[in-house]
Formats: sequence, structure tokens, C-alpha cells
Amino acid sequence: MAETIWSDARSQMMLDPNVANLNTGSFGPLPRVVFERVTKLRERLAEEPMDFLVRQVPPLLWDARERLATFLGGDARRLVFTCNVTASVNIVAASLKLAAPGEILLTDHEYGAMHWCWERAAQRCGLTLRTFPLPRTPGSPGEIVDAARAAFTPQTRLLFFSHVLSPTGLVLPAEDLCREARGRGILTVIDGAHAPAMIPVNLADIGADFYGANCHKWLLAPTGSGFLYLGPGSEDRLQPLQVSWGWHHECRGVDERDEFGSTPRLRALEFEGTRDICPWLVVPQAIDFQDGFGWARIRARIAELGAYVRTKIGRGVGLEEATPAHPALHGAMAAFQLPAGTDPAVLRRNLWEKFRIETPIIERPERLLIRVSTHFYNTEDEIDRLASALPALLHG
Ligand SMILES: Cc1ncc(COP(=O)(O)O)c(C=O)c1O
Repeated sequence: MAETIWSDARSQMMLDPNVANLNTGSFGPLPRVVFERVTKLRERLAEEPMDFLVRQVPPLLWDARERLATFLGGDARRLVFTCNVTASVNIVAASLKLAAPGEILLTDHEYGAMHWCWERAAQRCGLTLRTFPLPRTPGSPGEIVDAARAAFTPQTRLLFFSHVLSPTGLVLPAEDLCREARGRGILTVIDGAHAPAMIPVNLADIGADFYGANCHKWLLAPTGSGFLYLGPGSEDRLQPLQVSWGWHHECRGVDERDEFGSTPRLRALEFEGTRDICPWLVVPQAIDFQDGFGWARIRARIAELGAYVRTKIGRGVGLEEATPAHPALHGAMAAFQLPAGTDPAVLRRNLWEKFRIETPIIERPERLLIRVSTHFYNTEDEIDRLASALPALLHG
């Protein structure tokens, strides 16, 4: 019965049947219903752009904002749509004013491009950039909070961290970290690239000053859908990346819904001239799609597949686990350390060319990792395929 549900769910996804896609962590594939909806909207944009952009978009945009905010435990009037989390973090890093001298603090496991954003922000503000080491394989969320506590100094102006780390899939205790930072007057910016739909997210409870994320990974919305959430007290700290028609606005009603499907405050950050925002407008369909199976059931299936990955790739192939098994510390990605001497480029090429397996090989300064993502549409057979490919590729 359970198997029928998941094979039926998989049949509703647009997946290449020849590929074992164990890499939702990089990019999410689309449910057919989401693809059809976004294509329909694009057809209207193509045939009657004026009607679509001026009359049809505003209510659709507001609906998408409300649905996404509700799904994530937030307030629609705080949610700016962006094309991806890179844009979300850049809006913050490019415009936030931070007092110098001081430092921007990051974990040592941040996504490379986001680290560079803060490098530039530090230069712009005359601050130093410092990373602090996360425990290698923490046994509890408390160990991560302790590491952050030990890293804070009176000079720390801002803490940036990923909710779910890209290299290992480790889930950080976002709410606790924000609380610790807030108590010291430190601003918090979270890179939630992987979090929406992978793990439960409640933006109000997390309490970050800024939380950016993608909808085009685990939520399975079209490429080009992300958001930035403005925390209480931080609404006025940012400037848009591009000045457009939202720039001058009446201060009265700055947080009230306007005729564009935004609020004046959100539109100032969000509207970048004419562009294709159809990916944002179908976020409700992406939420509905997974909601239809039930989030509890999806999470249970993800946990089942994750346990299977640990059995087959960890114990079976004999690779050391780099992602803790503690339920609060992982979601739907597990990473394993590869043997010393493995050539990452050759392994990547062989996984694809010989086995048609999509799973990233991640080069960290201290070790080489293979990261396996399992969403509800993955199968035990795909994990078996990886488990039987690896010994030959690593030792053969
Ligand atoms: C932690 C993290 N941050 C940022 C990004 C960048 O995402 P995007 O290219 O969608 O902006 C990624 C992409 O995988 C990521 O894993």
C-alpha cells in the first residue's frame, strides 16, 4: 500500500527515467502539475502581456505571498519574493549598515558564493570577516549553540549561517542561535536555501532579522522562486538591489496591500522592472502538490529513505557518516566521507557517464564528501544503484 502511494507520487514528477536523481539538494525537479500551471501562465504572458502583467498578476502575486508566508509560519507583509536565495542574501549584504570597527561572523561550512557576499559586505563596511568552526559531527543541537557562544565577541555585529548546511545537510538550531545572537545585540541572517519543505520552518519562531531561502529546491517550485523574510525591527534596514517603480512610495500604508499584489515596502525591494515572475505565482500549486500527500507522510518517507541510505552507503559501502543521525540535526541529505586519494573529478564523471547517477562530490578543505539527497520520489532501487556503483568506482 505504502509502496503504491510513493510510486504513484513519483509518476506525477517530471523525472528522466534513466537517471537516479539523488540530488534535490542542488535543484528540485518539477511535479507535472506545477510545470503545466507555470506554462499556462507563460502562455498568457506571451499572448497578452498587458492583461497578464497588469490585471492578472496582482491577485495571483498576493495569493502566492500569503500561501507561502502561511506555509512558513510568517506574515505575508514581511515576505519579499526573489529569484533565489543568492538574491535574498545579496539584498541584505549589499545594503545593510553595520557599525565599524567590528566583525561579521560565519560558520566555516557556508556556501561559497554566500561567503563571498559577506566578504564584499565586510569590505564595504570596513569590518573583518571571521569564520568559526562547527563541531565535526555534533551529537546534539546544544553543541552547535555552544560553538557559536564561544565564537561571539563584543565586536560581533552580524551572524550568518545556513539553516541546513550545503556540504553535509546538518540542520542548525536556528531559533536557539538567533536567540543567543539577539541577546548580545547581534543581527542574524539565515541562508535557508534547503529548508522550506525539507524540514518544518516557522519564521516567526525562528526570529531571524533576515531569512532568505529557495522554493526551487525541496518545495519543487519552478527555477527562479525564492524569498527574503524581514524580521520584526529590521524592516527598514535594507535598500533594493535595483531602483525601480517601488522606490518612491507613500509612507502611510507602507505595510498595506497595494494594487500590485505587494505592499509599498515590499515592492520597493521586489520590483525590478519587467521580468518573468511566473515561478513565484505557482508556489501555491507547489505547496498544494506535497500537501496532497500530507507533510507528515512525506517526512516519514524521507526519514525511511534516509535510514536506507545510511544502511547501504554508510554501513554497506563502509563510508564514514558526516551527517549526524540525531533527528534534530538532519533532514533529507546525508553526506559520507570518501576514502583518501579519491579523485573527485573522475568520480563525478564516472557516476554520471557509467551509471547515470546524480549526486554531488563535495570538496571540503578537510575531507572529500559524497552527499545523497532523498526526496519522497526517490526509491530504494536508486540507492541500491549508488551502493553497487561506489565500491567499483572507489576501489576498482
Ligand atoms: C546553502 C546554500 N546557499 C545558497 C545556495 C545558492 O542557491 P541559489 O543558486 O538557488 O541562489 C545554495 C545552493 O545549493 C546552497 O546550498
